Parts: sequence; structure tokens; C-alpha cells
Amino acid sequence: MGLRAFMLLASKVWSCFCYMFRKQYRALAQYQSVKYEIYPLSPVSRHRLSLVKRKMLVLDLDETLIHSHHDAMLRPTVKPGTPPDFVLKVTIDKHPVRFFVHKRPHVDYFLDIVSQWYELVVFTASMEIYGAAVADKLDNGRGILRRRFYRQHCTPEHGSYTKNLSSICDDLNRVFILDNSPGAYRDFPDNAIPIKSWFSDPLDCCRETYTYTAYGSTCSILTSVLYKFRE
Ligand SMILES: *[C@@H]1O[C@H](CO)[C@@H](O)[C@H](O)[C@H]1NC(C)=O
Repeated sequence: MGLRAFMLLASKVWSCFCYMFRKQYRALAQYQSVKYEIYPLSPVSRHRLSLVKRKMLVLDLDETLIHSHHDAMLRPTVKPGTPPDFVLKVTIDKHPVRFFVHKRPHVDYFLDIVSQWYELVVFTASMEIYGAAVADKLDNGRGILRRRFYRQHCTPEHGSYTKNLSSICDDLNRVFILDNSPGAYRDFPDNAIPIKSWFSDPLDCCRETYTYTAYGSTCSILTSVLYKFRE
């Protein structure tokens, strides 16, 4: 065997090895759990928060906190074999529908942290029967997502729904919304924290990183908001 042929073979073996390594690594990364230390607010912060009226953080559900698909969908949006975080059975127009729900990475941690600072409100353009079930699961008995608004509270506009923040909070200086669709907060750009849409795709490493960054930046925006409004 000539040197050329040997090099060719070696490079083939190497790329095969790299391919297998990446595949293994991705499979591992997909199921890796992240452990957080959650620190309670310091006594000083708790005291400060007790002196001011809490700001309201309005949270969208689909493609902001979670992504779901249901069994009537012809083309699943999630790679087959990706296990959902939970399954919901709801009845829509007398038909039982199963929703497979994927939580955005770090969502529980995010809720744990922001619920210490803000009054949380769910505002989704989804139907109540589905939105309430998702909110119950995310709340997980903590009582942090009690106030909820659904499709019937949205304003239909050009075939989509906008969310009227004035209708849920009389002081616009006290409210902000985290939503992946800019149409939802069209009339309240100053109150919005845009966030990239998330469609469960744990194998997409870049997107996973992006998600993490998105949450990181959300947290830092929230921190700066907290400081900005510190009275
Ligand atoms: C939003 O809600 C407020 C308060 O209920 C109301 O006065 C206003 O007309 C609503 N805006 C739209 C566009 O529906």
C-alpha cells in the first residue's frame, strides 16, 4: 500500500471516529441534567421588595416557556424519539387530544428565580383548557402561576392575537411581558422583553446554546430591571 492510499484510509478512519464520538456526545448531552443551587433572597432584598409594589412579569407559554405537539399533527415538529417532559390529555370539541409538552431548558430554575421578585402572570393565546393544564404543570403546586389569561382575553387582530396589557394591569410602569411573538405586544413595545422562539430540538447544539444564552440574558435583563425600579 502506497503512502497516499494509507493517508486516505487513515483520514477515513479518523472522520468515522469523529462522527461516532459526536453522535455519542450528543446523545449524552441530550439527557444531561443540570443542577442548580437556588439561593433565597437576602434579608435586605426581601425587605426592599416588601416596601415596593411588586412588578408584574407576564409570561407567554408556547415557544417561550414550552413547546408542544399533539397526536393529530401529521408532521411532528419534534424529532421522533425525543421524550416529552409531560403529556396532557384534554378534550377539544368532544375529541380527546394528547399534547406532548417539552419544557424549555432551565425553565423551572427561571420560574423559581423570577417568582421571588415578581408577581407572575400567564398570558397565552391558546385555549383555556390547554393553557390552564400547561400552567398547572409548570406551577407544580408552588402557587406561583395563579393568575392566568387565555385566548378569550386576547384581542383578535389581522388573523392573530394581541395581548392588551392595560386590561390586566392598570399601571403600565409596573408590567412587562416576555413573549416570543412580537405581534403579541405590538401596542406595548416599551413593556416587552423579546425572546427567541423555542421549538424543542435537543439535538441542535447551537440552538441549545442559544436558548441558554436567551435565558441568561433574560435573567440579566430582569436583574437590571429590578435595580432600575429599586425605590
Ligand atoms: C385595552 O384595555 C383597556 C382597559 O380595559 C381598554 O381601555 C382599551 O380599550 C383596550 N385596548 C384595546 C386595543 O382593546
